[in-house]
Amino acid sequence: MKLFHTIKDIQNYLKSSENIGKSVGFVPTMGALHAGHLSLIQRSKQENDLTVCSIFVNPTQFNNPEDLLKYPRTLEADSQLLEQEQCDIVFAPSAEEMYSNMPKMTMNFGNLEQVMEGKFRPGHFNGVGIVVSKLFNIIKPTKSYFGLKDLQQVAVISRMVKDLSYDLDLVVCPTFRENDGLAMSSRNVRLSPAARTIAPKIYDSLLLAKDSLTKNSQVIDTKNKIEKFYGNYPEFTLEYFEICNFETLEPITIIDKNTKTAICVAAFLDGVRLIDNIVF
Ligand code: PAJ
Repeated sequence: MKLFHTIKDIQNYLKSSENIGKSVGFVPTMGALHAGHLSLIQRSKQENDLTVCSIFVNPTQFNNPEDLLKYPRTLEADSQLLEQEQCDIVFAPSAEEMYSNMPKMTMNFGNLEQVMEGKFRPGHFNGVGIVVSKLFNIIKPTKSYFGLKDLQQVAVISRMVKDLSYDLDLVVCPTFRENDGLAMSSRNVRLSPAARTIAPKIYDSLLLAKDSLTKNSQVIDTKNKIEKFYGNYPEFTLEYFEICNFETLEPITIIDKNTKTAICVAAFLDGVRLIDNIVF
């Protein structure tokens, strides 16, 4: 496995004669890798000649400085995991390398970023859009792999690929969960043992909402049930619980069986911000 820290080095390697004509699968990450990330690497390995994983804790997508500071940085352990998965290339640039010039331009995804994560994390999707765009331009992947765990990120990046005519396929991969239903996340390690025990209630609330919506199409009734549900678990501070159209992310008031619906939640538990969703 090759490890590169500079744009020039990875580009020279990808352009070298041994790699000409090879398909490149790309998995962008911020490291602190877990089985969810590795499922994306495995998918890329199956579908491409070369797999590149980037590890970069992108400062411009953190609107909360404390969250950025606390974000786990575990390059050595990550490299070992990637080596075990037989990932071909790791790109781990420094912030100075990625932002030797701070971008002057901004990305605005309109209504896609005015809800949920965008509403609570102003500037977040500008940071995500610019860094993913830079990484696409550096690596020039054939396919790039994203997890449905970050559903709004998938919506934003799909739109960016269309709007800017990126010549690549986006592959959206299912959310990988712990046995008790908790969606795997780099933030889970920050939960105290007590908080970790009740964290799967987030997934339970999504299942409850889905079940309720399949029996009664009025969203308001389900929202009331969810409010009661979280009333039993004061450890959670709910930021949002949205039932929306999977593609436009617009809130839905009545379920229509022909429209793909997403149920999305963000909650603080033990000072850790957790997000999850299900699509049906
Ligand atoms: P990060 O949170 O490290 O996630 C990297 C990729 O792994 C994302 O596509 C994310 O959706 C996916 N992922 C995370 N947890 C997952 C799980 N439990 N199951 C399946 N996939 C999962 O998302 C980012 O980094 C950044 O915003 C990035 C795109 C790298 C830009 O900085």
